[in-house]
Amino acid sequence: MRLNVLAPACSALLFFLQGVDAQVTVYGQIPLKETISQSNGGTSTASVPAATSTLAAYDDTVLNPPPIPDPAPSTAFTLSIPAVNTSVTGLSIAHSTDSFYGFSIEMSLLTEVLGRNSAYMQPIFLNLMALIARRGGRVRIRAGGNTQEFATYEEELLDANGYCITKQSADSENPTETPAVIYNMDMFYLFSNISSLVDVAWFLGIPFNDTSNWRLAIAEYGESILGDNLLGLQAANEPDLYVDHGRRDEGYDATSYFGEVQELISVINADVDIPIKNNLVIPSVSGQWAPELVWDTGILDACINSLSALAVEHYPNNNCYATYGTGSFVDPQTIFPDYLNHTSGVSLVQQYLNSTSIAQTYNRPFYMLEMNTASCGGFPGISDSFGAALWALDYGLQMAYGNFSGAMLHVGGQNVYYNPFTVPPTNESTYHQWTIGSIFYSALVIAEAFGTTGTSQIMDLGGNDGSIYTPQYSIYENGNLAKIALFNYITDESGASDYNATITIDGGTVPAQVYVKYLLSDSVSTKNNITWAGQTLGTKYTVDGILKNDINVVTIACDTSANTCTIPVNAPGFALVFLTVTESDFSGVTPFATTAYTKTINTATVDPSVLATSNGHSGDSFLVVGSTSKKSQSGALGMNDMLKGGSVLLLAVAWGAIAVLFIR
Ligand SMILES: *[C@@H]1O[C@H](CO)[C@@H](O)[C@H](O)[C@H]1NC(C)=O
Ligand SMILES: *[C@@H]1O[C@H](CO)[C@@H](O)[C@H](O)[C@H]1NC(C)=O
Ligand SMILES: *[C@@H]1O[C@H](CO)[C@@H](O)[C@H](O)[C@H]1NC(C)=O
Ligand SMILES: *[C@@H]1O[C@H](CO)[C@@H](O)[C@H](O)[C@H]1NC(C)=O
Ligand SMILES: *[C@@H]1O[C@H](CO)[C@@H](O)[C@H](O)[C@H]1NC(C)=O
Ligand SMILES: *[C@@H]1O[C@H](CO)[C@@H](O)[C@H](O)[C@H]1NC(C)=O
Ligand SMILES: *[C@@H]1O[C@H](CO)[C@@H](O)[C@H](O)[C@H]1NC(C)=O
Ligand SMILES: *[C@@H]1O[C@H](CO)[C@@H](O)[C@H](O)[C@H]1NC(C)=O
Ligand SMILES: *[C@@H]1O[C@H](CO)[C@@H](O)[C@H](O)[C@H]1NC(C)=O
Repeated sequence: MRLNVLAPACSALLFFLQGVDAQVTVYGQIPLKETISQSNGGTSTASVPAATSTLAAYDDTVLNPPPIPDPAPSTAFTLSIPAVNTSVTGLSIAHSTDSFYGFSIEMSLLTEVLGRNSAYMQPIFLNLMALIARRGGRVRIRAGGNTQEFATYEEELLDANGYCITKQSADSENPTETPAVIYNMDMFYLFSNISSLVDVAWFLGIPFNDTSNWRLAIAEYGESILGDNLLGLQAANEPDLYVDHGRRDEGYDATSYFGEVQELISVINADVDIPIKNNLVIPSVSGQWAPELVWDTGILDACINSLSALAVEHYPNNNCYATYGTGSFVDPQTIFPDYLNHTSGVSLVQQYLNSTSIAQTYNRPFYMLEMNTASCGGFPGISDSFGAALWALDYGLQMAYGNFSGAMLHVGGQNVYYNPFTVPPTNESTYHQWTIGSIFYSALVIAEAFGTTGTSQIMDLGGNDGSIYTPQYSIYENGNLAKIALFNYITDESGASDYNATITIDGGTVPAQVYVKYLLSDSVSTKNNITWAGQTLGTKYTVDGILKNDINVVTIACDTSANTCTIPVNAPGFALVFLTVTESDFSGVTPFATTAYTKTINTATVDPSVLATSNGHSGDSFLVVGSTSKKSQSGALGMNDMLKGGSVLLLAVAWGAIAVLFIR
């Protein structure tokens, strides 16, 4: 029955359609060792039957928004903002031409999200990455996580269905019972083929489970196949949790880690198949060790010539009790307000300011390589709410202000609440499309806030008497005030908590008008009805990676003689004010929403020249330009089309992943 959907012309592909797995795989953070035994083998990876209604990624929990704060912040305030960057103290470093938010994808999930091999890429994934890349430049993707530690290269194709990454059956040697990931050469071609279509670059990780027998294939092939699209190789993932996870003996500490990194460096330096010797990323600690514990070993002075970046990983909370029965119960409704004020991002970044400053001293970028609302899957009602979108946006801007160079939102499986995007469950994938998580919008908005000039610097303004409910930021491009970001965390249907921010430019004059894009929803609790400048990616199971609805950029006239622009901001809501653009600058961004394809027969052709030229910023149509008629779509799958040299087809495959097929 599944094969009927793909049907006639594609018998050549049937090979790829065998062995449909009616299970979904569960991925999450590993709970601590002692708690694993209590919970009878809590694991980071396990299989459960697919049951849409109960899968976390599709959860419909809606919490109550927190009450209006008392006292409420002022609903009318003025921000006097310097015209040029040289008049600002405490401005951030200039942010690069890469998008600030990227994505961290668990290694065992890669084929589900990216596509099963280099010939089968998920077009919806490509569309989503293109949305970000076009606004904010190259998208950083970290392919790794707990599953990178045991990952092993094998030469032959591992799976009759053409998957370039497979999983070993559970390994009793492995204390966390995470099945080892096995990958072949095609994984690197999958990455590089994606990079050739959309501006995406990769962080990979060197397995650290066995430091006497390093498995460096990931570095050797990563460097040779990905070239400049390899951003760095993690030397360890959360080494501060190795003892808790049973991967190192008691007593393993930052000095032990330093020793292992030195051993790794000497092995890399002796490996002629790794031509680039300075691409390691350390220490990726999760917060159990302060980064200072690692810096204090002297690792930076000793190893800096082998390092391309410094990084940490961190989650502000965990939901391990609900997931694994460990730790203590956390009530989502009770902690929802923790995500709905400016203090959260500020205090999360505070602990890393010394380290981002040290990174500048050593002239290396500092990344948040893995983050999200909460580990062990996030929280129902919080992680995919509009409130979380505001939180991730504020936190991301705060990281940028604190001189992080980028952060990667973690993508888990079907059983987490926090995914920025989720592939449909296997047995529903012929009729369901992807689901977008609210924090994807945060990545989209930040990309637009920083743009692609490579000169964006950001300042936390602290206006409105420093109200934690109405944070604001200014952004400079090429040294000039270019954008202003305004938040309102309060939910108030009555409109009484909407505010007006009056902007006045210190050492300059406001333009005759400014343009404003709003990120809006009805309440901080909602999961649907989230719009960015009037456009949306759609509700669950309907996302094809293309923004829907007409773009709505609001023009606001300023009073140039009074040097003021008054910007209204909804409660809740977020406004991005553009000061230096003209209306025509938005026209290139307008037609993102092009022809969508119907979801039952997921077929459409793609013009390869569109793909080729859209690798970057300002192309205004992208990817799926399919017919909406079922009949002609089937026609698109004809053998003739498939055999056209170099043509690219989007294929509906019955197991659900829509794939891009490249035929040489
Ligand atoms: C998907 O499959 C699982 C069993 O593997 C089943 O419980 C679930 O109901 C299925 N979903 C649908 C919509 O049929
Ligand atoms: C905001 O400005 C608008 C337009 O001037 C005005 O109608 C509204 O009352 C103002 N709201 C507040 C809270 O000041
Ligand atoms: C490390 O992982 C590899 C691949 O899963 C496995 O073969 C090896 O035995 C592991 N080594 C240790 C020391 O756990
Ligand atoms: C995709 O990868 C294959 C290697 O498997 C390569 O031959 C092909 O040219 C690549 N396609 C693109 C568009 O890069
Ligand atoms: C910053 O980190 C360095 C290296 O660990 C340490 O020596 C120094 O005391 C720290 N400074 C602050 C202010 O924490
Ligand atoms: C604001 O957020 C912080 C950190 O998340 C939390 O500790 C605090 O309780 C929140 N404040 C209010 C008033 O909700
Ligand atoms: C970010 O770096 C700049 C340039 O070094 C510095 O002036 C600024 O104080 C730093 N910001 C923070 C919050 O540490
Ligand atoms: C101001 O911006 C210019 C252009 O981006 C840059 O070269 C300069 O370093 C910036 N100055 C400060 C103090 O940030
Ligand atoms: C979306 O917003 C509209 C108009 O505000 C409202 O009628 C509708 O119920 C909302 N839908 C959801 C799913 O929240």
